[in-house]
Amino acid sequence: MIPELSKVKTDEEVQAIMTMAENQIEALGFTEHSRRHCGIVSKWAGDILRGLGYPEERVLLAEIAGYLHDIGNAVNRADHAQSGAILAYHILKRMGMDTAHAAEVMMAIGNHDEEFGTPVSDISSALIIADKADVHKSRVKKNVTNALQANIHDRVNLAAERSYLSVEREGTVITLHIEIDTALCPVMDYFEIYFNRMRLCRKAAEFLNCRFSLDINGTRLV
Ligand SMILES: [Fe+2]
Ligand SMILES: [Fe+2]
Repeated sequence: MIPELSKVKTDEEVQAIMTMAENQIEALGFTEHSRRHCGIVSKWAGDILRGLGYPEERVLLAEIAGYLHDIGNAVNRADHAQSGAILAYHILKRMGMDTAHAAEVMMAIGNHDEEFGTPVSDISSALIIADKADVHKSRVKKNVTNALQANIHDRVNLAAERSYLSVEREGTVITLHIEIDTALCPVMDYFEIYFNRMRLCRKAAEFLNCRFSLDINGTRLV
């Protein structure tokens, strides 16, 4: 049995842990709203597999993994992928998910972070791409408002007006589209910060038998 995404989203234990994750991120000085990010990652992870023609069961597992992928931030930002993976496994088992599917979600969440993560399954690959694609100004530290005085990492996020993914050319290319205000951040800054993330996205796309492409302000760069 795989619970509906809406049941996972409204589950009391999930809600309580997500609130704690948001509290911790806030205490660390970030404005990022976990529910905004996790909702987007859940949708995009599902969209990727659906766009590639995967069965709805795989799409639903990717959506669930996407929604729960950052709950480890309730424990500690360090190793949040691994702690969140174990938390998600137990929550999903308690909700009635069968062991094999709960273990798949656990493995995907445990591999989503670029430091130790590797695309190890279809769900894991979709989750990696969806997570790294969410570049947005709301993810910047709250005391940073002036892009020109910010460090390179905050500047890139502050300059990101919009990002979204598309599956193109009959499921052979996954493209990340980013709209950057180049008055705030040169495109080279983006590359410097996101090089490792983009490399992981490329590996994840290859796992899905696709090519990863990056489009910034309407220009295809890779
Ligand atoms: Fe994460
Ligand atoms: Fe994330």
